[in-house]
Amino acid sequence: MSTPLKIYLAPFQGITGHVYRRSFAKHFRGVDKFFTAFFTGIHKAKSLSSKAGEFETTHYNGIKLVPQILSKDAAEMLRFANFCHAKGFDEINWNLGCPYPRVANKKRGSGLVPHPEMVDEILGSLMPEIPIRLSVKTRLGYFSPDEILKLIQVLNRFPVSELIIHARIGKQLYKGGVNLSAFEHAAGASQIPLAYNGDIFSLDGFREFDKRFPETNTWMIGRGLLVDPFLPAIIKGLLLPELSQRKAIVRKFIDDLYFGYRKKMNDRPQAINVLKELWGFLCFSFDEPHRVFNLLKKTKSFDEYENAVNSIFEKHEWLGSVAGLFRPSG
Ligand SMILES: Cc1cc2nc3c(=O)[nH]c(=O)nc-3n(C[C@H](O)[C@H](O)[C@H](O)COP(=O)(O)O)c2cc1C
Repeated sequence: MSTPLKIYLAPFQGITGHVYRRSFAKHFRGVDKFFTAFFTGIHKAKSLSSKAGEFETTHYNGIKLVPQILSKDAAEMLRFANFCHAKGFDEINWNLGCPYPRVANKKRGSGLVPHPEMVDEILGSLMPEIPIRLSVKTRLGYFSPDEILKLIQVLNRFPVSELIIHARIGKQLYKGGVNLSAFEHAAGASQIPLAYNGDIFSLDGFREFDKRFPETNTWMIGRGLLVDPFLPAIIKGLLLPELSQRKAIVRKFIDDLYFGYRKKMNDRPQAINVLKELWGFLCFSFDEPHRVFNLLKKTKSFDEYENAVNSIFEKHEWLGSVAGLFRPSG
């Protein structure tokens, strides 16, 4: 019997926090796991108390949440794991993927991938103590896509619960294509359950990846899902409303987000900036993405924002990922 297809929402710092997760889980289907954006600098468990909202629930409408950490310090990771365990979580995720030079130059995120000996040391002291599962999200390397092979040799020796691979190297940031043959080599070497991540933007695109990696059943989707939140359900072949009804659902979703962020940010107009980050992706599901985004771009007050959203939904059609209008920059 084949394993059921699983889809995870990729974490996005500043976008996919608890307000997004709650609204998404209310309106859309098809996602099996959420991840928080990474936490870092956890010098004391108290450092996390200001982020209480991120840990308020372990599941959103049945979808499990996995808290993520960016660290190269076993003691800090254990502190994080203990904190999450006490909050009822049964897994944390270790970020070996962050590509930004100020992170990677300090041998954190994808900057740790070329240093498997450090990973070995960290896991050697962490794993005997950790009370919950540890999964890993990584890139293929920082400088070169074969760095992951040595990393996998180390990871294979520890009870890592899952390995999610974004099929790029750190140096690429988000530019250039994904490296499918390097992912294939990594998949061949890994004894850990594997998930693929990178550039799944449509059903047709997904089918190509699925054909190429028939052994892979778990897929993490980021930008493609921010553009079209129906994409996981489309990929899973779940029953879906017509396009015109989808537009009405997206309207409810975006309104929930709007009120959610206003509440979270005590009615400060900066809530609009958070929404604009998401609209930067969502606009590509409408018939004229740039026009749609331009309507919102300059809005500063809640009135201006509400008027812009009203006119988007009045004047523009929802096409979703089928239109293929999203083209990643670079
Ligand atoms: C603005 C932004 C913030 C991100 N934040 C995180 C993060 O906190 N943790 C993480 O593991 N990945 C983060 N990522 C990477 C995504 O989770 C994902 O791996 C990447 O976008 C590739 O998947 P995609 O091609 O499906 O979008 C971020 C990416 C972007 C563009």
